[in-house]
Amino acid sequence: MLVTGIEILEKAHKEGYAVGAFNTSNLEITQAIVEAAEETRSPVIIQVSEGGLKYAGIEAISAIVRTLAEKATVPIALHLDHGTDFNTIMKCLRNGWTSVMIDASKFPLEENIQRTRKIVEIAHSMGVSVEAEIGKIGGTEDHITVDEREASMTDPEEALRFAKETGVDYLAIAIGTAHGPYKGEPKLDFERLKRIKELLNMPLVLHGASGVPEEAIKKAVSLGINKINIDTDVRQAFTARLRRLLEEDKEVYDPRKILGPCKEAMKEVIKQKMILFGSSGKA
Ligand code: 13P
Repeated sequence: MLVTGIEILEKAHKEGYAVGAFNTSNLEITQAIVEAAEETRSPVIIQVSEGGLKYAGIEAISAIVRTLAEKATVPIALHLDHGTDFNTIMKCLRNGWTSVMIDASKFPLEENIQRTRKIVEIAHSMGVSVEAEIGKIGGTEDHITVDEREASMTDPEEALRFAKETGVDYLAIAIGTAHGPYKGEPKLDFERLKRIKELLNMPLVLHGASGVPEEAIKKAVSLGINKINIDTDVRQAFTARLRRLLEEDKEVYDPRKILGPCKEAMKEVIKQKMILFGSSGKA
């Protein structure tokens, strides 16, 4: 069933586990996510980025996710990932999405608060949950010094003020992860996470979780992360299977015979994440 993001994440926050938020932009990725959730009895968040919306078209991707979610027997939220454009967020609200992220983290704190509060007011009046971000979660391609990395992380006191003044439902924090493939091993600032959770006592979100070692993920969940965003690991599973399949079978031409096995490969990765995050069996 299609439910709001906060319905899924409030339970995760209270019971101390995390729910995967997997990015989609087409039918097969969405099927892989929903089937993985059904097979592990896990709640799940299906998210689309602004790039994903541009690729698939909002009507088509809304229809695909909503249709599969409504038919499913586990709770599923449809979420906008990194919404930076006001009109795009409004379109998602009009298309029946149950969660949106307003990402105004590139602006100074005051402006981030103002922009976030405005979206919270509108979304809440429609019964939709909101995620926002404080601190800067970079890409792994960013060349930054250790000092710059420190400075871009979420300040716990600022996060507390931000949460109080915006009324946001769950908060993405910067504790050392980055979007995309990592070159070295990411180092997470667990002390910072612990302090933020103690102060805010609300659902927290970890972005850029692909490629983060399992032990670090487990520790982050034990310290209060409740939503974990995964995109790259699923993309890589799709592409690795596709390369192998086309290499092994030079005759295949039916897209279903190509995309079907790729969907299964994505599903396996997603199921493993659901078990690792502790959401399996929680639906
Ligand atoms: P990865 O691509 O590193 O998994 O990050 C996904 C993400 O955080 C989307 O918001």
